[in-house]
Amino acid sequence: MSSKAPDNSVPSPGVSSSMNLQTAVLVIGAGAAGLRTAIELTEAGVDCLVVGKRDHGDAHTRMAAGGINASLGSRDSADRWALHAADTMREGGYIGQPRAVELLALEAPDRIQELADWGCPFARTEDGRIDQRFFGAQSFRRTCFVGDITGEAVLSTLVDRARTVGVAYRERIMVTRILLAGGAVAGARCIDLDTGRTLHIQTRVVVLAAGGCTSLYRRGSSRADENTGDAIGLAWEAGAELQDMEMIQFHPTGMIEPEAMSGHLVTEAVRGEGGRLFNAQGERFMKRYTPEQMELAARDVVARANYTEIREGRGTPRGGVLLDISHVDPARIRERLPQIHALFREHGVDITKEPMEVAPTAHYPMGGVVVTPETGATRVPGLYAVGEAAAGVHGANRLGGNSLAETVVFGRRTGLAIAQWLQDTGERDRPNVETEPSAAAEPPRPRDGSPERDPDPAQIMARLREMMWTHAGIVRHAEGLRSGLAELEELARDIPGRHEESADTPEQPAPAEVRFAVIAAEAILRSALLRDESRGAHSREDAPESRDEWIRNIICRREADGTMTLRCEPVAPIPPAVQEALDEHHALDYHHLE
Ligand code: FUM
Repeated sequence: MSSKAPDNSVPSPGVSSSMNLQTAVLVIGAGAAGLRTAIELTEAGVDCLVVGKRDHGDAHTRMAAGGINASLGSRDSADRWALHAADTMREGGYIGQPRAVELLALEAPDRIQELADWGCPFARTEDGRIDQRFFGAQSFRRTCFVGDITGEAVLSTLVDRARTVGVAYRERIMVTRILLAGGAVAGARCIDLDTGRTLHIQTRVVVLAAGGCTSLYRRGSSRADENTGDAIGLAWEAGAELQDMEMIQFHPTGMIEPEAMSGHLVTEAVRGEGGRLFNAQGERFMKRYTPEQMELAARDVVARANYTEIREGRGTPRGGVLLDISHVDPARIRERLPQIHALFREHGVDITKEPMEVAPTAHYPMGGVVVTPETGATRVPGLYAVGEAAAGVHGANRLGGNSLAETVVFGRRTGLAIAQWLQDTGERDRPNVETEPSAAAEPPRPRDGSPERDPDPAQIMARLREMMWTHAGIVRHAEGLRSGLAELEELARDIPGRHEESADTPEQPAPAEVRFAVIAAEAILRSALLRDESRGAHSREDAPESRDEWIRNIICRREADGTMTLRCEPVAPIPPAVQEALDEHHALDYHHLE
């Protein structure tokens, strides 16, 4: 399928007419992970450029709502980093990378304090400490928050900090290819989305901070033109490996109506503040699934429960379940959940008086690019990945609130590691290569339906999203996964290659995005087919048990002929402090919320 060996070679001087920017480090993605990396690099005096597909400050991090985890113990003084790590390992089905989990839990408290010092307006307790709320499957209140706009607050704090330290940034730039020389990173080919011009950026280091791939699904919590698998595709074509790609998180509660908002996140904070789930028969059904944790069970458990209620005919006529928080004091709802309150109100629902209609939505890939946890380095010299793009921390199921924590913990680490690497190799400055002028914009693509025209990328993407929802969704089985692969092969034939550098409107995904999406979809389908068990978010109807021999990671590798091969690797031993914490058997008890 991904059979065409990509051309990642650097254009030789004189051949390309568009080698027109240079930087020591190129950061692809301007969300929290990319910005935190760039802040560290810029503070270390390293020349670095951040590019993003959207306007400055409008990255997907904005959509993260409910909170960011760290074992501060503001509300529950028994909490400690090892318990955070233990919850993360356990809920990740024991296939998270123990060292990555350890680093996340150890360093999150300092990163939260740093965000607060940089001005992030975290909610505070009565005595001034950073407040913490309940979030699913966590033994203690560990999730720091800014109402239900935590991602937006974290991102604008980082944007301000980036401005203060002078991070260089170019908006509305899409990277379509990482360029290599002698197997190492040497540059990137991009499209300026406003002008359609091709841009070549010469660099020794590329950081992939371009998010995940859940826009591969019909219903997802991302906007349609983001999380299309760009980081996965770029890494893959450059020769990096992918891990745990079968592990796709479905958030239990996405909006249903209006259609334009379908899949939009209804934050877990609603349940963290006491929200209850009911089926159309008025039954609080979580008591049949997890009576101890109820609505605050792990995301995979609640998502499957919602899915089952709907599938077995106990859902609403529009295919949802009901999320109700109207028993909570309206003033508290408005204070703790201002965005969700306003959003539903805009669409005619007053959540202080009536329930929200919700259904599962594709939310987050636990897998991604294989990196060394301490540094974010991939196996390709000069190529790094961080945040949602990288695999390691979350295993088979991510704890809500761990993704924002991951961005700042590993963003800082990656920045530090790159600065050190450049220092060690004596290559801190920009690559010394002549710049060349921009290429002219490509001629517009035919859109008139003439027989010669390339298939519409938006149509290919729509078919792919439908296929992934049907065959690689919340519940899977071998036959469906095989059908998905066959369909993918067919639709991949239609990918327009020659226009890969055309700019496009957000509603009309660029052909490069489709190319990346197909790579990510193939890795998801193949890995899901290989893992013939159920674990975390990966639920196989034809293999419902978890099996110990599957406490392994699945790694996808691109062979020289472009084909995808898979292998399994054992998970490293759990560090003793984390094992001790696991042996204490802490668990969240939802009764605190009643
Ligand atoms: O539900 C939420 O607020 C999502 C948080 C997360 O995915 O970390």
